[in-house]
Amino acid sequence: MTRRFLFVLGSSRTESNSEMLARKAADQLPADVEQEWINLAEHPLPDFVDLRHDSDHVRPTEGEVALLLDATLAATDIVIVSPLYWYSVSAPVKRYLDYWSGWLRTPGVDFKATLARRTLWGVTVLAHEEEEVADPLVGTLNHSAAYMGMHFGGVLLGNGSKPGDVLKDTGALTRAKTFFARETPLARFPYETE
Ligand SMILES: Cc1cc2nc3c(=O)[nH]c(=O)nc-3n(C[C@H](O)[C@H](O)[C@H](O)COP(=O)(O)O)c2cc1C
Repeated sequence: MTRRFLFVLGSSRTESNSEMLARKAADQLPADVEQEWINLAEHPLPDFVDLRHDSDHVRPTEGEVALLLDATLAATDIVIVSPLYWYSVSAPVKRYLDYWSGWLRTPGVDFKATLARRTLWGVTVLAHEEEEVADPLVGTLNHSAAYMGMHFGGVLLGNGSKPGDVLKDTGALTRAKTFFARETPLARFPYETE
């Protein structure tokens, strides 16, 4: 299967450090790898409504929800590109992930079986110097991948506050060059043994 990367952009501003860092990493992808970039600010999802246990909810066929659902199902690799907001993913990204819960139960959408064995990645930029404060974001993505039976490529971290700062983070730029070439083990919850 041809690899197809979906980049889900979750910043709340246009000149986004996390997007800049993700684009540096994506520059290294081979030419035959397809890329789709969806900015959640340009394609805002409505508030998530939990209809998982309502029998009459149906697969969306139009609008932003259908766009995101179809793009997600078509991707072999999903890259969550989020600034660190309050130590975790931004609200638009969190909402996108909430939609996964609905799609898991949407009739006619084999969401879990389709995403299983595919790969989740993360790219984030934070203002804090100490990277371990991003552990909640890393945990959110790792555990979500584990729940879905996906591989997890880890999170590419960069430092910066104002737009463009991350381009001065030489360590992050170096890590970006090889990020998508790294091993992607099956995601595991912390309590699971090898
Ligand atoms: C609502 C909000 C919450 C933030 N929370 C954190 C945080 O918890 N830790 C941190 O280090 N930086 C935090 N920041 C700073 C951003 O992570 C930082 O400016 C980053 O470069 C933004 O990335 P972006 O340009 O892709 O949006 C926050 C910024 C905003 C606007």
